[in-house]
Amino acid sequence: MFIDTHAHLYVKQFDEDIDSVIQRAVDSKVQKIFLPNIDSTSTESMFKLSEAYPNQCFPMMGLHPCSVKENFQEELEHVKEIQLSKNCFGVGEIGIDLYWDKTYEAQQIEAFRIQIQWAKEWKLPIIIHSRESLHLTIPIVEELHDENLTGVFHCFTGTIEDAERIARIGFYMGVGGVSTFKNGGMDKTLPEISLDHLILETDAPYLAPKPYRGKRNESSYIPLIAQRVADLKNVSVEEVMEKTTANAKKLFAKAFSET
Ligand code: NI
Repeated sequence: MFIDTHAHLYVKQFDEDIDSVIQRAVDSKVQKIFLPNIDSTSTESMFKLSEAYPNQCFPMMGLHPCSVKENFQEELEHVKEIQLSKNCFGVGEIGIDLYWDKTYEAQQIEAFRIQIQWAKEWKLPIIIHSRESLHLTIPIVEELHDENLTGVFHCFTGTIEDAERIARIGFYMGVGGVSTFKNGGMDKTLPEISLDHLILETDAPYLAPKPYRGKRNESSYIPLIAQRVADLKNVSVEEVMEKTTANAKKLFAKAFSET
């Protein structure tokens, strides 16, 4: 089986046909889907979906860096409150995004650090969003990581040196639709990164892989990403499936110890 380690299937783009989206995922052997939250406005729909599909969908709580604004302390309180009252499987997505807006860079860093500390306390993996910010996120994780901290650099598009630093602290890199893009740059880096450090993700509804680029993404496209990784690394798609699924099971151990 495949695991989609990062999908926002609870957003409005899926309101009309979520049941068929889940069915298509299962039919494509994508049997588990991890849902990172965005902020307090998306919490309810995320849990609604996870409760409707308890065997497929696993909710995670975190404040997305693009939602870090003046009220980020309040938003963090919300993360903590829900985390402590509901069953969650990761802390995410969290991190730093300097692509869209740098206004709240300092607050993004603060929120990232606070949520990493919580993840250590709660012994849950972190899901890191690092758009245009690997130069900040990697050193922070290197500084704070210990035996209670594990996680993934989701939508990894860094250099081979970045990948080596991430692998050295036992973190994973999430590979998604960008790997199938001609200008994505992953054709150069992926062949150099061992499958031991990779997991698969869609980031649905965003970043659909070829040939669906620009359209709505969904979890059933995971095999297309696996095929691309297999082609770039010159291995079979079965090997990519087995290794990345084993990695995801290790990372999200809580979701697998309960089923
Ligand atoms: Ni995301």
